[in-house]
Amino acid sequence: MEPCRGRALRGRHGRRAWLGSAGQHPDAPKGPPVPSPRPPRPPRRPTRAELVRTLRAAGCVFAEDEARVLLASARTDAELAAMVGRRTAGEPLEHIVGWVVFCGLRIAVEPGVFVPRRRTERLVREAAAVVRTTAQGTAVVADLCCGTGAVGAALAATLEPTAVELFAVDLDPAAVRCARRNVAPAGGHVYAGDLFGPLPPRLRGRVDVVVANAPYVPTDAIALLPAEARLHEPRLALDGGADGLDVQRRVVAAAPQWLTARGFLLVETSEQQAAQTVDAFARAGLTVRLARSERYGSVVAIGRRVGNRPVAARERLP
Ligand SMILES: C[S@@+](CC[C@H](N)C(=O)[O-])C[C@H]1O[C@@H](n2cnc3c(N)ncnc32)[C@H](O)[C@@H]1O
Repeated sequence: MEPCRGRALRGRHGRRAWLGSAGQHPDAPKGPPVPSPRPPRPPRRPTRAELVRTLRAAGCVFAEDEARVLLASARTDAELAAMVGRRTAGEPLEHIVGWVVFCGLRIAVEPGVFVPRRRTERLVREAAAVVRTTAQGTAVVADLCCGTGAVGAALAATLEPTAVELFAVDLDPAAVRCARRNVAPAGGHVYAGDLFGPLPPRLRGRVDVVVANAPYVPTDAIALLPAEARLHEPRLALDGGADGLDVQRRVVAAAPQWLTARGFLLVETSEQQAAQTVDAFARAGLTVRLARSERYGSVVAIGRRVGNRPVAARERLP
């Protein structure tokens, strides 16, 4: 309790003692009151139709959908104005609102991290089918080049709660931070580093399913990507070297050492690169089939170790 506070602050007439009659401090300079500058007026919230027009004029193809997402995401009119400004300047919507829907899940996406694409949902569906048909008990799954962790998180969410023990890896610290947020509900573990490198050594020969959406854009094709990807997603997430398959080939070559004797490797590739991907699987001693999504134009290569065939020296990690 502070018993003296009220009395000490009040003068003879019960007014607060430090205020003059005009509500000014007695030491304040005399003269006509100086009007205080008006706070800037907050921007008016645009109607949905106005927002759609603004987005369309900036080249947003899905202006209607984007307007709905922006209006639902902004907590204030000022925040909406800032978001619209970033979007019309070319930043990906997902980086602005901080999430993307992938396989029906809301996945956190931080600026500077690769935005999961709808075509990659096919990789998740194929991986889920493999786990369902083959695994007994909990399947050990490694999601390499995990980015936001969307693939592993969606796979775990698709299956029974105990169906998957998830390990995810990415080289980019921003992606690792983001993946930790997304795979936490599945109890997944996220490691920073190069491909299989940071995985616990006890997993060698014990992984049931490896999934990888590694970068697969050929270096010369980066310049042809939409500005949103080229300017706002890290080069590390896109550039797959001269023919686009440098990282993918390293994943495939090393996978047999980590897979169980009948484990699976699933890799996203493109129609143009599918033949080279199949070749890489064959060189690693894996059987392979392709699953194609006509809707999204994606291809998933699904390979399997065949029994206990020893891993050839050339397939070993350096
Ligand atoms: C095309 S993005 C895919 C991300 C995620 N799998 C998805 O589908 O949304 C490729 C990711 O691979 C990561 N990456 C590139 N080279 C890597 C490497 N050598 N080891 C681990 N991650 C790597 C990038 O940082 C990027 O997050």
